[in-house]
Amino acid sequence: MIGNASSRPSWFIQIIFTAITFLSCGGRAYGGITSTFIRSEWPSVDIPFDNEAFAVPKGDNAPQQVHITQGDYDGKAVIVSWVTPDAPGLSIVHFGTSPERYPLSAEGTMTNYSFHNYKSGYIHHCLLEGLEYDTKYYYKIGEGDSSREFWFQTPPKIGPDAPYKFGIIGDLGQTYNSLSTLEHYMHSGAQAVLFVGDLSYADRYQYDDVGSRWDTWGRFVEKSAAYQPWIWSVGNHEIEYMPYMGEVIPFKSYLHRYATPYLASKSISPLWYAIRRASAHIIVLSSYSPFVKYTPQWMWLREEFKGVDREKTPWLIVLMHIPIYNSNDAHFMEGESMRSVFESWFVQNKVDVIFAGHVHAYERSYRISNIHYNVSTGDPYPVPDESAPVYITVGDGGNQEGLAGRFRDPQPEYSAFREASYGHSTLEIKNRTHALYHWNRNDDGKKVGADSFVLHNQFWATNGRRRKLKKKHYLMSLVGQTVAY
Ligand SMILES: *[C@@H]1O[C@H](CO)[C@@H](O)[C@H](O)[C@H]1NC(C)=O
Ligand SMILES: *[C@@H]1O[C@H](CO)[C@@H](O)[C@H](O)[C@H]1NC(C)=O
Ligand SMILES: *[C@@H]1O[C@H](CO)[C@@H](O)[C@H](O)[C@H]1NC(C)=O
Ligand SMILES: [Fe+2]
Repeated sequence: MIGNASSRPSWFIQIIFTAITFLSCGGRAYGGITSTFIRSEWPSVDIPFDNEAFAVPKGDNAPQQVHITQGDYDGKAVIVSWVTPDAPGLSIVHFGTSPERYPLSAEGTMTNYSFHNYKSGYIHHCLLEGLEYDTKYYYKIGEGDSSREFWFQTPPKIGPDAPYKFGIIGDLGQTYNSLSTLEHYMHSGAQAVLFVGDLSYADRYQYDDVGSRWDTWGRFVEKSAAYQPWIWSVGNHEIEYMPYMGEVIPFKSYLHRYATPYLASKSISPLWYAIRRASAHIIVLSSYSPFVKYTPQWMWLREEFKGVDREKTPWLIVLMHIPIYNSNDAHFMEGESMRSVFESWFVQNKVDVIFAGHVHAYERSYRISNIHYNVSTGDPYPVPDESAPVYITVGDGGNQEGLAGRFRDPQPEYSAFREASYGHSTLEIKNRTHALYHWNRNDDGKKVGADSFVLHNQFWATNGRRRKLKKKHYLMSLVGQTVAY
């Protein structure tokens, strides 16, 4: 998975340097890294329509663009979605716990939509409920010779020490860089994707090609998304407000194609919701829906935080599209509006980590907050804050807009590491106190660990025994990463 140190001099030196910087400053103070390394292997152009990456499955009206997501609050349900291109067909999923034998079935719903002159295929969403935890299920969709079979693994039961490995992908698009990211991700061993918005970049096209590029993207990600849940959040490229072709309903394509279990968390919108999976409580926010005080999203989030139980799910993770702390010239300060509304809640609730996309580069912050500042008084700079989340931007999936290569100079004190290369991240939760985090740069077709650290849980790591040992462990974990990988 990750090569030995001698063959990886650049990141190895970066990590040692990071560790030394931390150590010399007592593990808390500043001194971030701007990696000068840039890896942009392929040109930023979309893969052509007729490429095998978008191959249409064989068979008359065969189901395509198959993808799954969690279907309830706690991980005992899955939503299976697919498109039949030529005729409605049946919205039925046959499933069971052994291959080619499907004693169970569930019936879903079918929808379709038009976008300018484009007419979508028949989009099916089917909820499989009452599943057992930690079980491999096989499923079949479509009829006769055109039927297709897939499988997925349900997560372990909700519990404080349930291990789980998440992948984090953002701003993916459908270029050769996107393909590289997806293929590297699929070798990571992660079990579910936390997707931080901007899926297909179909809105870069016009007229009928918009819908067609949603279809190619659906076929593109199927090789992962049919087998493990992708937890969706929206970005600006999902809005598709395109009045010049008469399309003014925000999120039209996205909402028809990508279902989320929002009702299970008492949300009123598929665009913001929460799930619990293994030992993690994951809150999905919409950067492009109202969130100021008294809006539905604000009121929902206030309630959702009240219901977080760190005894059951120690890991509190928030997903959003626009990063709150970003020192790239691209989208600089776009996150200020949400920061001013929600940052104090993130700190009060000791969120462990916040993942965002939008900026086509990688960046990680220190634990900092800027909640003492208000418009009339207070210190206007972010300050070290042990209760604050780590903010991580993973907007480097590889879409056709290319990399955001210009970082602000000097690097702000809150920024720990930043690099403009394509890649994805993984968060491997070990137990209630420890998770291993990696950012993986796409590197000449191989996967290289470029930024990694041990994430200590914000609830359990500061309770009881851990408190005394905390500083020592924190420093040791940083030393550890120079030898562990
Ligand atoms: C949806 O499918 C039905 C049945 O084929 C068709 O009559 C209708 O025009 C389609 N609607 C859209 C919006 O494409
Ligand atoms: C504004 O900031 C000052 C200084 O931190 C603080 O004393 C005051 O309570 C804040 N006011 C509001 C309304 O938050
Ligand atoms: C949690 O996982 C870490 C990393 O694998 C390990 O060092 C630690 O001992 C574990 N803690 C418990 C309580 O199992
Ligand atoms: Fe974006």
